[in-house]
Amino acid sequence: MTVRVGFYGTGFISRTHNWFLKYSTADHRVVAVHDPEADRAQAFADRVGARAVGEDELLDRVDAVFVTTWTSEHERLVAAAAERGLAVFCEKPLAVDGTVAQRMVDAVEAAGVVNQVGLVLRFTPQFIHARTLLSDPRAGRLLAVSFRDDQFIPIQSHYGSTWRVDPERCGRGTLLEHSIHDVDVMQWMCGPVESVSGTVREVHGYPRIDDVAVARMEFANGGVASLTSIWHDIVDRPSLRNIELFSENLYLSMDGTPEGPLTWQFTGEPVQSLQGEALAHACIEAGHARIDDLAIVPGGAMFNPLTPFLDAISNAKPSPLPFSEALPAHRIVDAIYASADRSGAVVATA
Ligand SMILES: NC(=O)c1ccc[n+]([C@@H]2O[C@H](COP(=O)([O-])OP(=O)(O)OC[C@H]3O[C@@H](n4cnc5c(N)ncnc54)[C@H](O)[C@@H]3O)[C@@H](O)[C@H]2O)c1
Repeated sequence: MTVRVGFYGTGFISRTHNWFLKYSTADHRVVAVHDPEADRAQAFADRVGARAVGEDELLDRVDAVFVTTWTSEHERLVAAAAERGLAVFCEKPLAVDGTVAQRMVDAVEAAGVVNQVGLVLRFTPQFIHARTLLSDPRAGRLLAVSFRDDQFIPIQSHYGSTWRVDPERCGRGTLLEHSIHDVDVMQWMCGPVESVSGTVREVHGYPRIDDVAVARMEFANGGVASLTSIWHDIVDRPSLRNIELFSENLYLSMDGTPEGPLTWQFTGEPVQSLQGEALAHACIEAGHARIDDLAIVPGGAMFNPLTPFLDAISNAKPSPLPFSEALPAHRIVDAIYASADRSGAVVATA
């Protein structure tokens, strides 16, 4: 089956999706795109060999809809696609808060359509293999995670967006808009989070747009994580992470990129380090990634998130990362903001 794909939104992230589609082994064709910015829509349509069409017309032409607009438009467009029985891929954060995200999960599940969320770090070999190592019985109990994520405030340079400082369109700042990725992979690697506390700042002066968020997350297994998420003005630092995890008998360190190394050490064993294709192959050999999804990127390797989505549509089976998988991260983020509103009081995530 050739999956006919349409895009709502033709900005920054849709270009990344187009790259993954270009290198996907799954049979598909981008046939229609829509963006209220007509010139941008036409340029994208020309690049991918599709037609720029109206919002409603797009739904008549496709089997799968990619929702890559700013966050506040996600719910309405996902609902429109689901009502028509179309598969839908939606960018992260799914919504401006967990309540809306839950409604979106309900909508796609009630419609029974294939759905996937753009939590792309789940397809990055460093996180996949770190999760495998953490689950090794030799590691022992999780002790602590130190997770720092910083980038320049993304209203400049290659992002060039204004909506990221408009809470009507983006919801909140760095913790929701960017670090939902970090919260998601931490709970995916380390297990459910039971409670949090947090502090946020709005140093740039945009109301409700946190540019500093510092959070403590308590895992059900007794481990604890600290997350520091920063939007600064150092345009030389586009998006950088520094991540260290300690279990009783395992140390892990990584930078969260497709290029950098995953370094680890079990008690009594030498330090090991893998990166790029070698690390991706370790994920495949461990049975936690598919060779068909291997995507070589400049200097590194990833797993193509779109091939399994397209395969799921062709084979009428669930995608590997349905919307429902994003709910824990949304609840944790909401709880951190609730804690910050109460001067850092401990807030349960359930
Ligand atoms: N997975 C990731 O790592 C990642 C990275 C960047 C952005 N994102 C997410 O992707 C989404 C878009 O971000 P971006 O950086 O591409 O923003 P962008 O500003 O570059 O593009 C958004 C586009 O959506 C269009 N749009 C708005 N309303 C629309 C509608 N109703 N129908 C069709 N198009 C509409 C805008 O005109 C704009 O062209 C956001 O949710 C963002 O959080 C994810």
